Amino acid sequence: MIRYMGMKRKWLAIVILLGSVALSIKAQEDFRVWPYLQNPSMDSITILWFSGSDLPGQVEWYRPGDQGLKSVISDPLPSESLAYSRWEDSTFFGGEAPSFPFRHRVRIGDLEAGATYSYEVTQGSASFHSTFRTAPQGNQAIRFIVYSDSETEPESTGNFTSWPDPDSVYSRKYLIDQTTGYRNNLQVIRSRQPDLVLIAGDLTQHGGEQRDWDAFWIHNTDSVTSKSLAGQVPMLTAPGNHEYYEGNYLDGYSQPGSERAISRYLTYFEAPSNHALQKERLGRYYSYRYGPVTVIALDLCNNGLNGSEDDTNFYLLGESDPEGGMAPDFGHGSRQYTWLESQLIESQKNSLFTFVMFHHIPYSSGPHSFPAGEGEYLDNQSGVPARLLTPLFLEYGVDAVFCGHDEIWERSEVTGTEKLPDGTEVAHSISFFDVGVGGDGLRGPMEGSDNSHQQFLVHEDVPEVWEEGILVSGGKHYGHLEVDILPLDDSTWNAVLTPAYVFPLYNKTDSTYSGIERRQYNDQVVLTRIVVDTTVSVGYESKMAAQVRCYPNPFSTQTTFEYPQGVVGEVRVSIFDAQGRLIRILHDKTSRTGSHTIKWNGKENSGIPVPSGLYLYRIEMTSGDPISGRVVFNPSSDY
Ligand SMILES: [Fe+2]
Repeated sequence: MIRYMGMKRKWLAIVILLGSVALSIKAQEDFRVWPYLQNPSMDSITILWFSGSDLPGQVEWYRPGDQGLKSVISDPLPSESLAYSRWEDSTFFGGEAPSFPFRHRVRIGDLEAGATYSYEVTQGSASFHSTFRTAPQGNQAIRFIVYSDSETEPESTGNFTSWPDPDSVYSRKYLIDQTTGYRNNLQVIRSRQPDLVLIAGDLTQHGGEQRDWDAFWIHNTDSVTSKSLAGQVPMLTAPGNHEYYEGNYLDGYSQPGSERAISRYLTYFEAPSNHALQKERLGRYYSYRYGPVTVIALDLCNNGLNGSEDDTNFYLLGESDPEGGMAPDFGHGSRQYTWLESQLIESQKNSLFTFVMFHHIPYSSGPHSFPAGEGEYLDNQSGVPARLLTPLFLEYGVDAVFCGHDEIWERSEVTGTEKLPDGTEVAHSISFFDVGVGGDGLRGPMEGSDNSHQQFLVHEDVPEVWEEGILVSGGKHYGHLEVDILPLDDSTWNAVLTPAYVFPLYNKTDSTYSGIERRQYNDQVVLTRIVVDTTVSVGYESKMAAQVRCYPNPFSTQTTFEYPQGVVGEVRVSIFDAQGRLIRILHDKTSRTGSHTIKWNGKENSGIPVPSGLYLYRIEMTSGDPISGRVVFNPSSDY
């Protein structure tokens, strides 16, 4: 009898398993790409997804606490641009690749600014639910995260990238494969609860291979809410050279292969409309305002006549080339240059901070740091031509530039003069970041490169520390740049740029991989903006800020703030809620040398536990400017 019951349970389990597999296959057909967010404004947002059939789907949304659920039915459109190539079909699908998918785009309007909504998308028998947040009205604290060069493809699994050893000429392989590296990076990004995620190009390995895009969306979307980054946080992207690359086995960068490749990218991403652009160039470059910042995304994948010293890709043909495609120029007098200047003028007047994102890093020490050309110490996909935009960036006070392409964590600084709207000229400096360590390469500097603007290079500035065959600290890893825009008082705002990386942990006893830890490189940059009236900002200084670690973050019971060892004298550590109210003073006395850690248990001064949510910490010292950051209290988290 006992055995019979066991058999019965076993059969039941098999039936349930087969049922769930069938449902899972059905769900995959319902959602080829699970829903994701794009283009949030103060009163609207776009939800996109792809289905295997032309069945309309439905979006329902509501604001918690409000009455009423609103809904809209989608209008699916066939996306022939996302069909598998004949080569993919025959090589990987035995001639039976799925047909092209159907694109569902719903733009939801009439929303409140800076508000969180719940939404649910139903497609066939599957559904996905999550939340979205509209853009804030005016200047409010925000966080965004930027990386590039994820370069996804199914072949990333089991592919351990080259990991140059700063102390040896011998090549090594990185500790974990590219798929795990990117997945871990996205896990850390999700845990930081940013408002936006920026990707500075080279999202997939081959922009023309559908399998590589499938891999990108498997990483970034999911049926499970907590695992879907793009379903909770809108992505802003700029195209890289790989978005124009059809692939090794297809037509590479040639025409019309490169246009077929970029058309996949343009089908997936919805950029804000730019009235100055031709319709068909929409999405290749755009300007985007979100609360206190403007982000300008550029397409610098090609320029001028092919093979000229101003060209960033000698294989790709663009708008100036006979037989060329739609890849836009960016040199003086080009439409993109003229448009860029108009956007910079607007941003300097209206935004507290201006950030520019494009793929080709202009200042670096990697393989693309050599001038454009062919031969020794030259590069036919060089980032150097992008330097022609630097005078424009300086003149209009761009605060930082985010790039990739060299797949090396490097920060360079260029100094010059900003011309303020009232005509005043002030000294200005811009940090250029190569954040191309999303999930593919982890390069070191190239022999023969000479980057006189370099301020920080992980390969040289963060030595690896090994104990008993285990890496315990330092080294070059997959990661991203975290940017917090925070008010210090009524007139002063900080942009805190924190380089974060995902450190793989190993057990010392048996060398087995045991997980990951978010860590920060000691190169935090703090930009300060002083607001003189409500619209015009003047007074600018850029300097390095000492590093503050806050761990764990998010936290459930207790978090620790660790501030610089060199700090002595009066130190005050305060906690504010998201509305800026002071709720707890953790420390307000003379600090001794030695231990510089302060703990917070998630309680107010009165001892009452605070509600879960976002909090700001501020550390004020006798000397130097205050340092601020964000910490998330989530009693139900695992931390
Ligand atoms: Fe690239």
